Amino acid sequence: MRRALVIARQTAIFMSGLPSSPNLTPVGRLARWTQSEFNVALRTSARPDGTTMNDMMPWKFFSHLSDEELRAVFAYLRTVPSAPSPGK
Ligand code: HEM
Repeated sequence: MRRALVIARQTAIFMSGLPSSPNLTPVGRLARWTQSEFNVALRTSARPDGTTMNDMMPWKFFSHLSDEELRAVFAYLRTVPSAPSPGK
């Protein structure tokens, strides 16, 4: 029992440090980014407002994508229907 409580507490501490998932559909702030801002964010983690993304977002892997691949991902995200959320 005590072990379960310790694990629950550690999990709560870990989760509280995690960033919330952004809304990548057209109701989120990503919809206001340009293609080149998107490319910079996925390659360097820097958002247009100068902040950087948490490393939970595996941007280092996406930094290997070509311009054409990033254009395809960006274009795809523009086709996803809006999904309201309380997030960003
Ligand atoms: C093609 C796949 C993906 C795309 C296009 C993508 C795109 C993005 C973008 C544009 C943001 C910034 C949004 C904003 O700040 O409003 C973001 C943030 C984030 N992404 Fe991804 N992502 C992808 C995959 C993933 C995966 C696989 C994970 C985790 C397993 C992940 C986790 C996160 C997290 C946790 C954030 C928030 C970072 C923060 O607020 O500091 N993403 N993603």
